[in-house]
Amino acid sequence: DDPRGLKDFYKDYFSIGVAVGKRNLAGEEAMLIKKQFNSVTAENDMKMEMMQPVEGRFNWSTADSIVSFAMKNNIKVRGHNLCWHEQAPSWFFVDKDGKQVSKEVLLQRLKSHIDAVVGRYKGNIYAWDVVNEAIDDDSTKYLRDSKWYQICGEDFIIKAFEYAHAADPDAKLYYNDYNTERPEKRERLYKLLKSLKEKGVPIDGVGLQAHWSIYEPTENELVTAIEKYSSLGLKIQFTELDISVYPWEKFKRARGANEPDEFTPALEAQQMAKYKMVFDVFRRYKNVITNVTFWNISDRRTWLDSYPVAGRKNYPLLFDAQFKPKKAYWEVINFK
Ligand code: XIL
Repeated sequence: DDPRGLKDFYKDYFSIGVAVGKRNLAGEEAMLIKKQFNSVTAENDMKMEMMQPVEGRFNWSTADSIVSFAMKNNIKVRGHNLCWHEQAPSWFFVDKDGKQVSKEVLLQRLKSHIDAVVGRYKGNIYAWDVVNEAIDDDSTKYLRDSKWYQICGEDFIIKAFEYAHAADPDAKLYYNDYNTERPEKRERLYKLLKSLKEKGVPIDGVGLQAHWSIYEPTENELVTAIEKYSSLGLKIQFTELDISVYPWEKFKRARGANEPDEFTPALEAQQMAKYKMVFDVFRRYKNVITNVTFWNISDRRTWLDSYPVAGRKNYPLLFDAQFKPKKAYWEVINFK
């Protein structure tokens, strides 16, 4: 058995991460994490609702156990995330009578949250996704019409970065989003990042989630996105990589409704080619890419088994359900 893992093959390029929960930190999965990865992200345990489900009551224990596992094993931690419209507890947005709070109150709550969370892991979390998914899915609109936006306008984005920077001036701060290689999203994300840079907002980089599929992105779309964002002087991290064997469009199945969800040789070949292409591109841009993180460990359990449709098995990762490297793994590590 080769003692080397992904992190060793990529040591001259960028760190290689994986999204984890507490359940993954023991047994076979823990061994796989230690062998293959040198960065972890909490899949859910550092999100707003997990950290502060009730105002002023912080839940540290699960997040702490992820950070201490990482530190003990010489693994870096990416923080995910400080401000998002999903998995944000509803108390943030209303007062005791259920009335929507003012912008001042909401920003104050955001500041206390960020102070507490970033402050607790100061020095131990090297990069944070500060704001997640603020751009609208509708290509005719710019920012998403979330509670954050309704109450604060664009300022919540700026303030979140300022609060995070004040809480840990050494942490690298990222804006994170998905579908960032699609032209209509790319232009709007570029516009947002450019305006943050022009305003002097303390942003270090952009997190491209990379929830991809065997159908997208194309090499040209990927290269164009990397060049465009990095032209602003920003670093790039691929924060949530997986390559679905289904089209991304919601509620669509790749095969007919009655066909089994098998990982066929044809799907496997397409996935191998996509993994090879994206890592070939990543290596060419090692000066701007500082991390690539997979969203889940293996095909035994991936969030895509239940998203966007439940009850459909997906096979998006480099390790199979028995934790063995898939053919795509060799495509990723065999390079000169
Ligand atoms: C997902 C988790 O993987 C799921 O377990 C959870 O139910 C929902 O969130 N974009 C993100 C991640 O930024 O936080 C999401 O993670 C996947 C999409």
